[in-house]
Amino acid sequence: MKKLMAGNWKMYKLKDEAKETASALVKLLDGAAPEGREVLLIPPFTALRGVRKALKKAKGFALGAQNFYPSAQGAFTGEIAPEMLLDAGCAYALAGHSERRHILGESDAFVGEKVAFGLEKGLSMILCVGETLEERNAGRLEEVVRRQMEAGLAGVAPGVAPERLTVAYEPVWAIGTGLTAGPREILDAHALVRGVLAEKFAASAASMRILYGGSVKPENANEIILLDNVDGVLVGGSSLSAESFAKIAAA
Ligand code: 13P
Repeated sequence: MKKLMAGNWKMYKLKDEAKETASALVKLLDGAAPEGREVLLIPPFTALRGVRKALKKAKGFALGAQNFYPSAQGAFTGEIAPEMLLDAGCAYALAGHSERRHILGESDAFVGEKVAFGLEKGLSMILCVGETLEERNAGRLEEVVRRQMEAGLAGVAPGVAPERLTVAYEPVWAIGTGLTAGPREILDAHALVRGVLAEKFAASAASMRILYGGSVKPENANEIILLDNVDGVLVGGSSLSAESFAKIAAA
């Protein structure tokens, strides 16, 4: 299983800058993802076209979307459908990112609808889960992650191809704060995620990727990527610069 090194650009970069960053990243990596790695770029919608062009000849790179609405088409002003994302070159999409849960008010059940619908339409899905600092301090890590996963995966068929389903553990208190979870915290949370996956998907859970996200930087990526049950990273801030993301991708 290749490790997935994903850069979530959130609401940053105009289209030309996004394309330039993607081109610079490809160049820094000599036109191919590092051995045993898949590099995923998740730019804003308006930059998908340019980034797709920049990745055209690169090997081992993929394009992803930050969000979509779980319907094939229809009167959903401001929303975008999975088929439109596939048409724009996306192979992956995120669901349940903490910023969408906490800023946009997305519920566990709505996130679950997206995961099931995206898979059905042909996207590979990355379900994001993670606890707030308040929840962690109250000893509720397991309860919160289990609840988000059970609802997030409720509509997923037990026989889903394992390479198409990824879970990203992103503790909310480590996102954009400079605070990274320590090795012990990552090991425990990822073992929990693997266990919940195994309850639903049995043996194929071992072939599903679990990413860590939250203040991943070139300085800590080496240590994180080597931990048990860490099958990649989901990087925000440090993926915006081609130089720092190239270092992380090669960690
Ligand atoms: P940072 O890497 O900026 O902490 O963001 C993490 C994240 O939310 C990736 O989806």
